[in-house]
Amino acid sequence: MAIEAWFMDDSLEDPRLPHHRHPKELVPLDHLAELGVLYWRLNPNDYENDEELRNIREARGYNYMDLLNICPEKLENYEEKLKNFYTEHIHADEEIRYCLEGSGYFDVRDKDDRWIRIWIKAGDLIILPAGIYHRFTLDTNNYVKLMRLFVGEPVWTAYNRPQEDHPARKEYINNLTQKIGMPLAAY
Ligand code: LAC
Ligand code: NI
Repeated sequence: MAIEAWFMDDSLEDPRLPHHRHPKELVPLDHLAELGVLYWRLNPNDYENDEELRNIREARGYNYMDLLNICPEKLENYEEKLKNFYTEHIHADEEIRYCLEGSGYFDVRDKDDRWIRIWIKAGDLIILPAGIYHRFTLDTNNYVKLMRLFVGEPVWTAYNRPQEDHPARKEYINNLTQKIGMPLAAY
């Protein structure tokens, strides 16, 4: 089964709940691709010897790799980190995450500034482009093990919204406007 994504409702309930609209409004993969979000389904059981993963890393220059266990026992400053992950932000570089165990939600803004919730589970590798507004939360399973990939020395700096003058944001908007052929309002 491919990755699941949907438009979120506006409720202020626990972020770890699914937040489907009623009725559900699913978002197809090609819609995510238009926003620059890429996705692969890999085999998470033997990730150390996975040729497909090796090929993606080689093709995209992801020479850096580490593993992040998001649970209170294994992540220092757990509460604070989760709070920061869920604060809407951008990065100057791609955010590449490969889910090895557990699950969680990456929320991204679409071209009309609506939240799309992407549910990642073991085997899902996603790439969020530099400059896209996004955030992350655990779901009600409360556990995820993620591989983080990067080109060169990793920079995890998050720039919280608004960031309309950030070069990565400007470039992202330019790319989106060219791809979709439609000007975006400045937020
Ligand atoms: C983040 C975590 C999930 O960067 O890796 O948002
Ligand atoms: Ni991020």
